[in-house]
Amino acid sequence: MKKSSINQKLRLPCGVTLKNRLVKSAMTERISNRNFEPTSGHETLYKEWSNTGAGLLITGNVMIDRKHLESAGNVCFDDVGMLPKLIRWAEAGKYNGNQCWVQISHAGRQTNKFSNTRPLAPSAVKLHKIGLFSKPKAMTEADIQQIIRGFSRAAQLAKEAGFTGVQIHSAHGYLLSQFLSPITNQRIDHWGGNIKNRGRLLITIIRDVRRIVGPSFPVSVKLNSSDFQRGGFTEDESLEVVKMLDSEQIDLLEISGGTYENVAFFLMNEDSVHVKESTKKREAYFIDFAKKVKSICPIPLLITGGFRSYDFCNEVLQNGELDLVGMARPFITNREDIPGFLKGQVPHLNNNVIRTGIKQLEDAAEAGFYAKQLIRFSKGKLLNPKMSPLRSSTFLVFHELKMALAKKFTKLRGNYGQC
Ligand SMILES: Cc1cc2nc3c(=O)[nH]c(=O)nc-3n(C[C@H](O)[C@H](O)[C@H](O)COP(=O)(O)O)c2cc1C
Repeated sequence: MKKSSINQKLRLPCGVTLKNRLVKSAMTERISNRNFEPTSGHETLYKEWSNTGAGLLITGNVMIDRKHLESAGNVCFDDVGMLPKLIRWAEAGKYNGNQCWVQISHAGRQTNKFSNTRPLAPSAVKLHKIGLFSKPKAMTEADIQQIIRGFSRAAQLAKEAGFTGVQIHSAHGYLLSQFLSPITNQRIDHWGGNIKNRGRLLITIIRDVRRIVGPSFPVSVKLNSSDFQRGGFTEDESLEVVKMLDSEQIDLLEISGGTYENVAFFLMNEDSVHVKESTKKREAYFIDFAKKVKSICPIPLLITGGFRSYDFCNEVLQNGELDLVGMARPFITNREDIPGFLKGQVPHLNNNVIRTGIKQLEDAAEAGFYAKQLIRFSKGKLLNPKMSPLRSSTFLVFHELKMALAKKFTKLRGNYGQC
């Protein structure tokens, strides 16, 4: 095996050691059963991913509340009754001696109408995206307190199930990211206003999760470098949040960017107006921002978005620009190549770029293609690279509608014990 930085271990502040520097970043699976529980499909998917040899697998976002979904197929960590199924998922996810962490989230206003016509958000600001999202209701103090308890309960359930860590999702325009942005957070109480107030919910949740899981359990945060929207959460504000995180007990900080209104996390390509010239020359989207984070904060740093080549990954790790390399789509398109990539035998992972040629459909096509492949994998099937971009662009709408209808007929229930 080629000696490389990507194969080096990393010890986290909580004392846990990752066996190498490659991370499968979160990808929502959309395959829960009607009770929002994981299925044998999760076990199939995660056992294969564990076999890739990556040091850390981060699950797709799971929800703290089944009424506020990112997808109708989300697993919701709100019911102790599902513990046996969670245990089986966790076992599959750490099958190969890697870490497997649960990404915990609340969708806020980014929940589609099929699942929820009255979403909650920091303020009643509607998402600007074709027709699928309802105007949210501004959260009350009681709603906010319930969110804090929800994150901690989910983290507790993850730990009880045998997952080896958690990641708090505060990126991509979901609820905690909505609190950070001045566009979506127009509150005038102590949860809104300056960046310290907008970051208060994230910090409160981190502290409560840490209290519940104890000092030796990995806790990570996924944060936007920016929303890439005029008037939104900026790089400077993100760096302010990074400084706030530095005073907390965090084991890993993952940087990404964008929201549903600008899906910078997976549509940043050569044509994107948001990509700086220096970034275009290098394959990873958020690498310039990583340097700024590194200069002010010692928390181990994971960057996700665009990494594809072995030499580049090793170069940035060797230079100390980051501590871990995150990849998502290559774990779908190049799943079988990843063991060879880690050995230096596969120099480059090529992901499919899904483009319809119709600007308004590009993000739906990209998301739909990958969502469909994940569902195939969960059934033990192989990649279907031939799925047409137009079919990809409509796939998710029909999938969400189908899952939402199926669940409407299943009684909403929550059975969580005392924390
Ligand atoms: C199908 C799919 C689902 C995703 N789901 C999530 C998610 O649940 N949580 C999250 O933080 N990011 C999610 N992402 C974003 C990825 O974690 C990652 O940031 C993005 O794909 C860029 O990395 P890549 O260029 O290596 O694919 C998803 C991406 C894809 C393609």
